[in-house]
Amino acid sequence: MRLVIKVYVVYSYLSMNKTKTVIYLDNNATTPPHERVLEKTFEWLKLWGNPSSIHGHGRGPKNLMREARRKISEMIVASNPLEVIFTSCGSESNNLVIRGTFDYFYKTNPKKNVLICSAIEHPSVIKTMKALEPRGAEVKIIPVSRSGEIDLAVYENMLNDKVALVSVMSASNESGVIFPIKKLAKIARQKEILFHTDAVQALGKIPLGVTHWDVDFASFAGHKVYALRGCGVVYAKRGTILESLITGGGQERGRRCGTENLLAIAALAEMSVEVKSVEAKKNKMEALRDYMENRILSEISDVEIIAQTAKRLPNTSCLIVSGVSGETLLMNLDLKNFSVSTGSACSAGNPEPSAALLAMGISHAEAQSSLRLSLGWNTTKEEIDLFVDALKDVVVRLRKIAQMRELENTL
Ligand SMILES: Cc1ncc(COP(=O)(O)O)c(C=O)c1O
Repeated sequence: MRLVIKVYVVYSYLSMNKTKTVIYLDNNATTPPHERVLEKTFEWLKLWGNPSSIHGHGRGPKNLMREARRKISEMIVASNPLEVIFTSCGSESNNLVIRGTFDYFYKTNPKKNVLICSAIEHPSVIKTMKALEPRGAEVKIIPVSRSGEIDLAVYENMLNDKVALVSVMSASNESGVIFPIKKLAKIARQKEILFHTDAVQALGKIPLGVTHWDVDFASFAGHKVYALRGCGVVYAKRGTILESLITGGGQERGRRCGTENLLAIAALAEMSVEVKSVEAKKNKMEALRDYMENRILSEISDVEIIAQTAKRLPNTSCLIVSGVSGETLLMNLDLKNFSVSTGSACSAGNPEPSAALLAMGISHAEAQSSLRLSLGWNTTKEEIDLFVDALKDVVVRLRKIAQMRELENTL
């Protein structure tokens, strides 16, 4: 019997139809650089001078950076370009806000030592807060239900005058759940507590504005919106104080020292027009995502969509495919030229199930059967149809193999 299974497995791999192009459904991990970014990269590279230099070679880069800061501040609807701080990535932005705020209170008011975040934050939030525990930080976690909700009364009860900072993501990288940032920030503000939102996944997928949210801080990353890796952004509301993590030459008004990555900054600024017209992109992605989910639910048995009834990002779908390991699904789909994910890319290679899914009350086994699909601005219906056909094929085959294994064990 064991031999039969082996032959079946080998046969099934050999009989896979290879599609010619790779279909990318992992846009929450990163996005391909936009055509206009690729076209202009060489032009930007020619401005190689240091934007801090006051001679001629610095002037071009300085002007490009000033213009980029203005465009990016408009893109996130800040009230002043000087509220934009350039970093290297989303993780650094989150670190800067959390460590920078903690350090500030550590020096000025050490009784304010409580840091609060939701249970499903990205590791660059949760792990950063926990890393501050040996220095006296007390970390409190806001629970999130299986349907992706935060109980506002529970949240409000957690807030007191010992709280230095609350950090809640605008939208989840895994389930796509969108949190009510305006409401959460308002409650924190009423108690005079600083509020940060990790908006890395929200940008380019839903309309947003830091002024509308009325938050103190927000984080963003260029590579999630078809720009380039190497540019993160912290929005810091005018008047808020952050200790810099990197001491040095005083760039970014002393809040993030080190020579800026002008190429990646210019690329993000180039995408600001696209991001500002996100409504149409949102509607297109949402219609395709819903079409994909409907096909999956009607054509493949025993599949659940995590937080399906919650307000979610228009491009994200996190499935639990019962009886099949997410990792095996991913590898099989990869062989058929589909790029998908089993959780956040940052956890790829980690055999442990996603901490964020477990925190929503999803069981260990369910989390291990999860598959995250994230559509992009240019995903097409043809790609979705090819993907669902392939998924159906792979799931049926893997479930058959599992059944044969079970049968073998009973013999
Ligand atoms: C919600 C969220 N925050 C932060 C990050 C980290 O961003 P980066 O990879 O640019 O460091 C990610 C990356 O996937 C993310 O999804």
